[in-house]
Parts: sequence; structure tokens; C-alpha cells
Amino acid sequence: MATDPTRSFRLDGRVAFVTGASSGIGATLARAFAEAGAAVALVARRRERLDALAEELGAAGARALPVTLDVTDSAALPAAFDAVTEVLGVPDILINNAGVARTGLFLKTGAAERDANFATNFNAAWDLSAESARRMVAAGKPGSILNVASVLALNGAPGYAAYATSKAALTHLTRCLALEFVRHGIRVNALAPGWFVTEMNDGFLESPAGRDYLDRIPPRRAGRLEELVGPALLLTSGAGSFVNGVTLAVDGGHHAALA
Ligand code: NAI
Repeated sequence: MATDPTRSFRLDGRVAFVTGASSGIGATLARAFAEAGAAVALVARRRERLDALAEELGAAGARALPVTLDVTDSAALPAAFDAVTEVLGVPDILINNAGVARTGLFLKTGAAERDANFATNFNAAWDLSAESARRMVAAGKPGSILNVASVLALNGAPGYAAYATSKAALTHLTRCLALEFVRHGIRVNALAPGWFVTEMNDGFLESPAGRDYLDRIPPRRAGRLEELVGPALLLTSGAGSFVNGVTLAVDGGHHAALA
């Protein structure tokens, strides 16, 4: 009997460091990675939520560690990685998922809004990638970095200049790091989700205007959070061992339409 090809999607023995794990996409991916066999560091600022998720995953037999961290606090990153390494081992999967969407028309967007988007969506992912990759290289561990970008990294949209350019920068960082880290066996890829209803946007997407907008985009609906799981597993597990430097749109085809 041939080996089951779906086994290569498993993450047994891997250690995943998931930022923004307290809600939405991050919590969904953390749960899925735990179910796929990884030990999971749940990294975000809202401790009670992380504790609750860690308890849920622990009760299901997974190893999960809550870690309180503001990802924009670069000085705090080494201690966070030390804490995870001590309990779970050196992380060999980094999910740069923590993000903010401070939106508004360009002429009404001040430097503070621009910098807030870049601080979390780009600078923090840069710093976390550096901290994480240094440790993987030092430990001689291959691994994967997955950046959660956005379909707005692929196309422009009015009102999103700061957010969309921060995510576009993240996809380009993805390509550059993929080239530098391949010699260490570390792959770097990105997801570009379309619209998913989370705390980031539920005020809009659940409003009449939001529902009307969803009716007009190519998939005519928002994505379901679990629809990100297969793509994320592909990009981080052995199943995607020769996939490097890509930005994978998970948007029901939204990016394929003219903006
Ligand atoms: P969310 O608001 O539920 O999740 C964002 C997470 O990032 C939260 O856990 C939040 O606490 C965390 N976070 C923000 N700033 C942080 C900081 N300084 N330190 C630590 N944690 C921080 O929203 P969602 O949708 O789950 O967002 C996750 C990622 O997906 C974000 O990067 C977002 O830009 C991206 N995305 C979301 C889409 C959507 O339609 N929901 C579409 C495309 C991309």
C-alpha cells in the first residue's frame, strides 16, 4: 500500500508561533495547527482569550502555550521566543498574522495612521521573521514563515492606501526572505485572504452596506475561516516543501477580477 499522500500535511513535532492568536484568522489557524499535530505558541495581547484557547487545545490533547506580546515591541521579542523555546522547543513555524486595518481616504490619512498600519503589519513581521529565522538557523532547524497579507496587497482600493501598501510591502518582504533563507531550509510564503468576517471588519461586513458589497464581489460571499486552513497547511507543512516565495490568494477568485 502506498503512503497516504495527505500525511505530508501533518505538523507532528513542529512548533508554531502564531501571532494575533486571540481572535479571527489567528485563532482559527492556531486551532488547526494544533489539530494537525503541532505544538502551538498562542501569541497576542489579550491574555484571557489566549488562556481560554490554550485550555481548549490542552483539553483536546495538544501542547499550547499562551504568550502575552505586543508584536510592535521589538525589544520584547527575544524573551517571548525564549519562553516558547523553553516549554515547546525552537519554533520552526512562524505565522505573522497579527494585523491592524486603520483605513480612510488618502487625503484624510495622517502619518500616525500610516505608521500604525506599517508598525504592526510590516515592521513587526520583519522583526519577528528576523528573530525567528536566526533561532532556526542557530538550531539547524528547517522551517516555514507564513505572512498573512491581504487581497488588498494585490490590488489597490480607495480608502486603503496605508493598509494596502503595508500588506504589499509584506508580500515583497516574503519574496526577498524566501530567496535569502532557502539555503537554510526555511521557506517564506504569504496568504492573501479576501474578505472574512472577523472582529476587524464585522461592523462593516454585517451592515447593509457590507452585505451589499459582498453581493457584488466575484464569490458573492465572505470566506469561511476554515477555508484558510488548507492553504496555510500547504504553505507550512512538508506538503509544500518546494513552494517558496509565493503569495497565495484565498479569496474565491476576487483578485482575478479587474479592480
Ligand atoms: P482580528 O482583529 O480578529 O485579528 C487580528 C489579531 O491581531 C488580533 O488577535 C489582535 O489582537 C492582533 N494584534 C493586532 N495588533 C497586535 C499587536 N500589536 N500585538 C499583538 N497582537 C496584535 O482580525 P483578522 O481578520 O483575524 O486579522 C488577522 C490578519 O488577517 C490581519 O493581519 C489582517 O490584516 C489579515 N486579513 C484579514 C482579512 C479579513 O477579511 N478578515 C482579509 C485580509 C487580511
